[in-house]
Amino acid sequence: MVVFKVVTQNTKPFDGQKPGTSGLRKKVTVFQQEHYLHNFVQATFNALPSDKVKGSTIVVSGDGRYWSKDAVQIIIKIAAANGVKKVWVGQDGLLSTPAVSCIIRDRVGPDGEKAYGAFILTASHNPGGPHEDFGIKYNAENGGPALEGLTDKIYSNTKTISAYLTTEGLPDVDISSIGTTTFEGPDGAFEVDVFSATEDYVKLMKTIFDFEAIKELLANPKFSFCYDALHGVAGVYAKQIFVEELGAKESSLLNCTPLEDFGGGHPDPNLTYAKELVHTMGLGKVPPANEPPEFGAAADGDADRNMILGKRFFVTPSDSVAIIAANAVGSIPYFSTGLKGVARSMPTSAALDVVAKKLELKFFEVPTGWKFFGNLMDAGLCSVCGEESFGTGSDHIREKDGIWAVLAWLSILAYRNKDVGDGKLVTVEDIVTQHWGIYGRHYYTRYDYENVDADAAKKLMAYLVELQSTLPEVNKLIKETRPDVEEVVEADEFEYKDPVDHSVSSHQGICFLFKDGSRLVFRLSGTGSVGATIRLYIEQYEADSSKTGKASQDALAPLVAIALKLSKMEEFTGRSEPTVIT
Ligand code: G6P
Ligand code: ZN
Repeated sequence: MVVFKVVTQNTKPFDGQKPGTSGLRKKVTVFQQEHYLHNFVQATFNALPSDKVKGSTIVVSGDGRYWSKDAVQIIIKIAAANGVKKVWVGQDGLLSTPAVSCIIRDRVGPDGEKAYGAFILTASHNPGGPHEDFGIKYNAENGGPALEGLTDKIYSNTKTISAYLTTEGLPDVDISSIGTTTFEGPDGAFEVDVFSATEDYVKLMKTIFDFEAIKELLANPKFSFCYDALHGVAGVYAKQIFVEELGAKESSLLNCTPLEDFGGGHPDPNLTYAKELVHTMGLGKVPPANEPPEFGAAADGDADRNMILGKRFFVTPSDSVAIIAANAVGSIPYFSTGLKGVARSMPTSAALDVVAKKLELKFFEVPTGWKFFGNLMDAGLCSVCGEESFGTGSDHIREKDGIWAVLAWLSILAYRNKDVGDGKLVTVEDIVTQHWGIYGRHYYTRYDYENVDADAAKKLMAYLVELQSTLPEVNKLIKETRPDVEEVVEADEFEYKDPVDHSVSSHQGICFLFKDGSRLVFRLSGTGSVGATIRLYIEQYEADSSKTGKASQDALAPLVAIALKLSKMEEFTGRSEPTVIT
């Protein structure tokens, strides 16, 4: 057996190792600096209780982006040196973010061991490749992203770190084939266990959904299906679940081979970046050669995000979570006893609020970032939650879950089409428009101004905060610009007090609430790696079911005009157009 020693390597702190909304994300070239990743990993171990780390099992894997394989080897060595007993790795270093969450919560090793935490190697929806982004985030024992208390500690450790522990004599481990390799360290055996990326996750999905019902839907000749993994890790799960388990045709999968650079694309499932799917579904500028499928979906690089489409029809993420919540009981066996509660992030539209009210469900509004849902779920307060940023999920794990969202929609479609016989198929569009008929519609759009000068972005935000204290001025400007827009009745910065641990998160977005329930929200993104990204969220509620069929950009045009005027967007940023509209 290979024997290794533990050695101490001197190092110096690097600036800017502060984990953002979802871990540390930087250019690959930044991560490739000597000791850079090492420092962050050691800072994480130092932030955890050492008695918990010693003898523990840790998961290390990710979305397969460029430099992941090197990173896995580096982390295995630092983990071994810090007294970790076992490292669990998905085959080829691949595990989706939701699968990691599932593995932490559910997987039991041959010695009865469970994982204490995970290093997830992903920059989510950011592009990959030698000149693009790499990322790392730590997930805790409940399967969810580390909470702020821990990430603050990690960050503060990165500022003072002077040495890290690593190994001498521990070779790189073959992570391409399944099996366990055992080494001998100062504390005894150290194991690296490589296993199938899909096994635990598929098992969990089968306990949640009625696979037979979905299989029947996929076999219905009136139904057709298409899934785009944008060359991210979702492809591994899509092949296993949609094709192997549920009988979808292999040809219904687009870009389902994971690539280190995501094929040069931007692995973000939205109308701008999921170009091929958008075209196939009949939503592109040029009509497709073939009749679009009835259902289409896409995922981001690490498979926690999702976009749901019908034939020539886009489902906004805010509507998606509301519709899943409204239909869960009946369609999805996991929810057969009812929902404990529902939650959305603040900038997500209030479509879910209306469902919660009507179904008398507990409801929570949290800041942007999936970690805020975790506490609610751990406390048994929330079953289904979602974010406008193409994230939807439930308390089956502590991450959002792209494949889960697709299975949820397929379940709803299967349930609605159960007795359709020779009749017309109930489509995605039917389900959404029926929903608007019952609950009203929240017209919604998001404007992103990416890679704006960081200083300019800060100034714009400060200006908006200042504006909030002079509402009469704001309303005067509205009257002059668009008299058809109602007045602002409330303006504040969102602050959240966690109902479980009572922690307070301030400055979580600048909101303007209008008399008719419309909202404008401004926020700075926490996930970019260069400059600043300003997000502008625009929402208008229409309760009158005869008026829910407008094109979203027409319905929202007056509010957009107000938002741009109020914020002096062009003046501050020099941008006359957003980078992305969703
Ligand atoms: C990540 C988090 C999401 C969050 C999103 C916000 O994807 O997992 O929970 O909604 O970041 O990103 P932003 O760029 O708006 O900070
Ligand atoms: Zn992601």
